[in-house]
Amino acid sequence: MLHATIIGTGSYVPSNVMTNEDLTKLVETSDEWIVSRTGIKERRISTGEKTSDLAYEAAYRALQSSGRKATDIDLIICATITPDYFMPSVACMVQGKLGAGRAAAYDLTAACTGFVFALVTAAQFIETGMYTNVLVIGADTNSKILDWKDRSTCVLFGDGAGAVVLSASEEKKGIIAADLTSDGSKHSILVSPAVPLSNPYIQDEIESFNPSIRMQGQEVFKFAVRIVLENIEAVLKKADLKAEDIKYIVPHQANRRIIEHVAKCSGIPLEKFYINLDRYGNTSSGTIGIALVEMLQDNMLQPGDKIIMVGFGGGMTSGAVLLEWN
Ligand code: ACO
Repeated sequence: MLHATIIGTGSYVPSNVMTNEDLTKLVETSDEWIVSRTGIKERRISTGEKTSDLAYEAAYRALQSSGRKATDIDLIICATITPDYFMPSVACMVQGKLGAGRAAAYDLTAACTGFVFALVTAAQFIETGMYTNVLVIGADTNSKILDWKDRSTCVLFGDGAGAVVLSASEEKKGIIAADLTSDGSKHSILVSPAVPLSNPYIQDEIESFNPSIRMQGQEVFKFAVRIVLENIEAVLKKADLKAEDIKYIVPHQANRRIIEHVAKCSGIPLEKFYINLDRYGNTSSGTIGIALVEMLQDNMLQPGDKIIMVGFGGGMTSGAVLLEWN
């Protein structure tokens, strides 16, 4: 059987840093409130780069670190909720800019779980033998769908992208187990509206159209802590492993308190959870890829280490991947 292994990683964030102090000039908030409720100290906010620009930079770096050429890539999947256009996809724009031959390219939408969904989707193509090298990107410019007058949401998010190159291996390593779940009955607790119906028969809501993120924060919090625990337990069970066998959990970086709660309830020490949200906030599809790059830079991952990447987001969606590092 073929297995999907990560052979390259890359990330990119805009250089512009927005601190909590900067936010106090826009909305009635404080560094103390944001840090104590979320753990976030600063985030990167684009001053012109679009999602496809962030995605391209992360993808280019992942490709460089993989040792593969752009023309070796068979498929590009970009997870995003903030594409430059409805069409073309961000993935197609990256494909063209990279010069990735005739690689298939498409976007996937699973909000902040997008990167995990894209990894698992890519792995299916590899495990069936259809493709050998797949580029997976998670990229979002959340800043363009925030209401910068709404203090309950604008303090939480940032812009950024992460990418990995997955490649087929005959050794039993790489992605070992996955668990993807959705609960559409809760779709209204985290929403970014799309363009309303507008045609010769209907002109509903067009004047009041506003794509800004609207969130029932406490409902999202409750959903997250429950489902992340379920996803972690599910992949451990599928892989026939115990929490002690896992070197690190790489969680979606939304809120430090969510991660602390999961650590407490799972009995997995908090030190095993990689946390960098203090510097980037929630970059949606970008968080896990950005974290992986930093962990590698800090020499935290060695061949044989088992890690769990786990995310949750709008939809509501959630999912985990258990992976043996190679
Ligand atoms: N600064 C100061 N005060 C604030 C701010 C702010 N930035 N935001 C809200 N408040 C106020 C509220 O107005 C409220 O005031 P009131 O009591 O006078 O009405 C008070 O703080 C408490 O508000 P709550 O919403 O109850 O605060 P809570 O403790 O629930 O924390 C938070 C809010 C941080 C958003 C929390 O609910 C949370 O983290 N939820 C999860 C959110 C999340 O992870 N979202 C990402 C999802 S992933 C994706 O797919 C996008």
